[in-house]
Amino acid sequence: MNDDRLEGRIAIVTGAGSGIGAAIARRFAAAGAQVVAADIRAEAVETLAGEHRGVTARGCDVTVSTGIDALVDETVRRCGRLDVMVNNVGQSIAGWLKDATDAEWERVLALTLSSTFFGVRAALRVMLPRRSGSIINISSGAGFCGAPGLATYGAAKAGVNNLTQSAAVENARSGVRINAISPGAIRTPGILQWAAELPGGVAAYEQTLLPGRFGRPEEIAAAALFLASDEASFVNGALLPVDGAASARMAAIDVPPG
Ligand SMILES: NC(=O)c1ccc[n+]([C@@H]2O[C@H](COP(=O)([O-])OP(=O)(O)OC[C@H]3O[C@@H](n4cnc5c(N)ncnc54)[C@H](O)[C@@H]3O)[C@@H](O)[C@H]2O)c1
Repeated sequence: MNDDRLEGRIAIVTGAGSGIGAAIARRFAAAGAQVVAADIRAEAVETLAGEHRGVTARGCDVTVSTGIDALVDETVRRCGRLDVMVNNVGQSIAGWLKDATDAEWERVLALTLSSTFFGVRAALRVMLPRRSGSIINISSGAGFCGAPGLATYGAAKAGVNNLTQSAAVENARSGVRINAISPGAIRTPGILQWAAELPGGVAAYEQTLLPGRFGRPEEIAAAALFLASDEASFVNGALLPVDGAASARMAAIDVPPG
């Protein structure tokens, strides 16, 4: 697909070594951006960078605020500015709320909510003086509704949603836009590992999904490209579901055949 919507733009994507983050990095590079693909697994983003022109790799643990600050500062030093920041890392630890340990709670909050806060803050600090930029947080349907076994993750993603809205409202006249994408179940290594533990495994889980299939990481990347581009110039503070209608469903009504 010939697309120049991000020609010359500088973007950072965290958690770009796998799944949704990798798809966003690839799509942004294909649209003309210079992409800094950051991941705690440096070797994963190095492979991605080796395969795609316009992608450079950086090792980074997003749970450490100084690490994200350094990532953003180094990008600005090297590339002159930052146009797009995608805060993509987030992770659940499945289990009943009554059994969740303090350490699990802290870990899920660190990976999912604190990492997003660090990324939003670091990006705002360099984008606000230029009065330009797009920040995209990857949230989840679990941030809107209760889901058995996902309470800590859902609470953290609800935090991501409010952080997104608060940042957008606080900076509504700044030229910097802050939005979130709320993916449905997307076929990535992360979710396949989680679904494999469910009764019936991955195939049974996929059958329960409202659209009858997993989404593809590329379907999230397409929405991220829109939010990153100037076409979304009046989209700010949005929590955009990309989920095959999952979040629109009234749960008491059965799924129609077809
Ligand atoms: N896959 C889904 O169905 C789904 C649904 C809703 C929301 N999400 C959200 O989308 C995002 C991406 O999910 P995914 O399924 O692509 O995940 P994934 O597990 O496939 O990839 C996550 C990437 O993040 C990296 N990472 C983990 N900890 C890190 C850290 N501390 N610092 C830097 N990088 C780190 C991993 O190495 C990996 O490359 C997450 O925020 C997730 O909550 C996913």
